[in-house]
Order: sequence, then C-alpha cells, then structure tokens
Amino acid sequence: MKSSFLKIDLLNKLEKKFASNLISWYSVNKRSLPWRETTDSYKIWLSEIILQQTQIKQGLSYYNKFVKLYPNVTALSKASEQDILKNWEGLGYYSRARNLHKSAKIVVDKYESKFPSNYDELIKLPGIGDYSASAISSFSNNEVRPVLDGNVYRFVGRMFQISTIINTPSAVKVFKNTLNLLISKNNPSDFNQAIMDFGSTVCKPKNPNCNTCIFKLDCLSFIHNTIEKYPVRKKPPKSKSRILNYLVVIDKNRMTLINKRNEKDIWQNLFDFPLIETTSKVNEAKIKTFLSTNYESISLFDNIFLHKSIMHKLSHQNLKINFWIVNVSNTLIGGVDLNNLKNYPFPKPLISFISSINKLLL
Ligand code: ADE
Repeated sequence: MKSSFLKIDLLNKLEKKFASNLISWYSVNKRSLPWRETTDSYKIWLSEIILQQTQIKQGLSYYNKFVKLYPNVTALSKASEQDILKNWEGLGYYSRARNLHKSAKIVVDKYESKFPSNYDELIKLPGIGDYSASAISSFSNNEVRPVLDGNVYRFVGRMFQISTIINTPSAVKVFKNTLNLLISKNNPSDFNQAIMDFGSTVCKPKNPNCNTCIFKLDCLSFIHNTIEKYPVRKKPPKSKSRILNYLVVIDKNRMTLINKRNEKDIWQNLFDFPLIETTSKVNEAKIKTFLSTNYESISLFDNIFLHKSIMHKLSHQNLKINFWIVNVSNTLIGGVDLNNLKNYPFPKPLISFISSINKLLL
C-alpha cells in the first residue's frame, strides 16, 4: 500500500516535468538515424518492422537497402515475395518480411497506395501490433500514443518499481496508464523516440548509467537500490533441442536439390535442402533409404560424408545442424546448379554453409 502511494506521489510530481526533461535530454543526445529525418509513414513503417528484434547497427543497412529498392509502397507491392525474402536474408524472423509484402498489397488495393499514418488503420495491417502502430502514428502523425517496448518497460519499471510481470495484459494496462500520464501531449513523437533512446543508452539492461542519470533523484529503484529487480520477467521457457540433418545431394553436373519450405514456421517460404530431423545421429543407411524413397531420380550413391556440424540458437530452440554431402551418379531431376544457390533465400545458418560449399567443391 505504502509503495503505491509513493508511486502516485511521484507520478503527480513528475507529470509536468518528466516529458520536458526527457525531450531536452533527447535534443542533446539523440542518435542521428535516417528514419528520424522523415514523417513518411511508409519509410517509418519499414524502419519499425526492420528494428523489431534487431539492433540499430544491423537494421540500418537493411533499412537503406529497402528504401533504395522499394522507395514507395507501390514498388514494394509489385516485388515478388521471393525477392523480398532474399533481400531480408540474414535478418531473421521472416514473418516480418512476408507481412511487409502482404501489407503493401493491401495498402495499394484498399488505400489507393497511400500508406496510413493513423493508429486505427495501421493496427489492421498484418504484422502491425500495438507497439508498431503507436510508434508509426506518433512519428508520422504526432498522435499521442505511448510506445511500450523492452527499453520502455525497463526504464519505467525501474523508475516506478513496477512489480507486474512484463509482456502480460495486466502489465500493458499498468505501464500504459503510467505512460499516458507522462507522455508529452504536444510532442509525442520526440517523447517516444526519447524514451526508447534513454532506455537503450542510459537505463541499459546491464551497468546502467545511474550516476549521471537525470532522473536519479526520483528513480525509486535507484533510491532503494533495486535496479537489478526491475523490470520483472516471467521465467523463460526451457529451450528445445533439435537435430537437423541436411542432405546436400550433388550429381556429376554439380546440381543439387532444394525445397521451398511450406511449414508454417519461422522459415516458411525460405529454401533448404532435403532434411531428416532426428533425436540421435543418423547413419549412411538411413540417408540412403530416405533419399531413394523420397526422390525417384536417386539410386546410385558414390559417397556420403558429414561435411560440417554447427550449433545455431533461435529464441527458444537450440539447433544442431549436420550438413551431409551425398555424391550420386544419377542425374538429378529438378536440380539447381550449386552456383545458383545464392539466388534463393535461405535461413541464416544455411547461408554460411553455402558459401563454404563452393570452396569445398572447387
Ligand atoms: N527501435 C525501434 N524503433 C526505433 C526507433 N525509432 N529509433 C531507435 N530505435 C528503435
């Protein structure tokens, strides 16, 4: 009880000066980024989708590439999904790229190619949730819509010692109520940019700059020495371990077999090689049976060897990926030239393998 009184007192005290102090801090410390120099909702949308789960350093080159290749929503809508996935290659979470394409088509068909800038229309588009709709509508349309991302949860969670577990519906309510009191009503755009920058550069997850922080005299976690406790998170789910055996079948003409993945998973519509997923090691006999059963054109095996094993971590999965080279004397039906693999979008752990295979087979 006592602590919630403290928070209300603090909120009342801060309501007026918090936004102006934060925006003043931002005007001096802001990072100069190309999507901050525009109010074009299309470009801001591209940047926000690219920056989800992606560091600015990595996202920047993809943003520049996408703006150059697809300068407006019409250009993006006309591209093929395969080209978009190819240009997204390496960034991960490919549903973002598939949704970019779907949204672009909807905007061309239903909004006369004018990308929406208001929250209520943005939220209807695939791949746009509350965070993205708030960010885009505040940056391009100056709507008073506070953003709630990981940086904001941390900063506000610490400042007010909020004990609600983050990323839950009740946390959204508590944090949004707090932010709605704090947000600048005449400059919500800079307020949102500022609060995200402050969270990522000052109120950092590890070793935050508390001693030089402009809010340290009001920050409840700093005052009570509880920085480490906030924000409060759920225990992460245990990571699942999987073993993927990719079979890189190569014939005498240096052709190989690839598949377009249609499982509804994170790699949907990307390409990969014939795959045996196992819980333990596969052997040559199993590989031969698998290939000759599933591919009519394969029967004459020259040699089979394990070329490389790598570990790849996804958010909740640890993948062990074995790349098997299978040389055959048959002529593969529907094969792709090894030199042309670079024209198809592949998941990240397969891309480095593909560049190594060409060296191996020279
Ligand atoms: N991360 C997500 N959106 C961002 C933005 N507009 N600026 C900096 N980092 C971000």
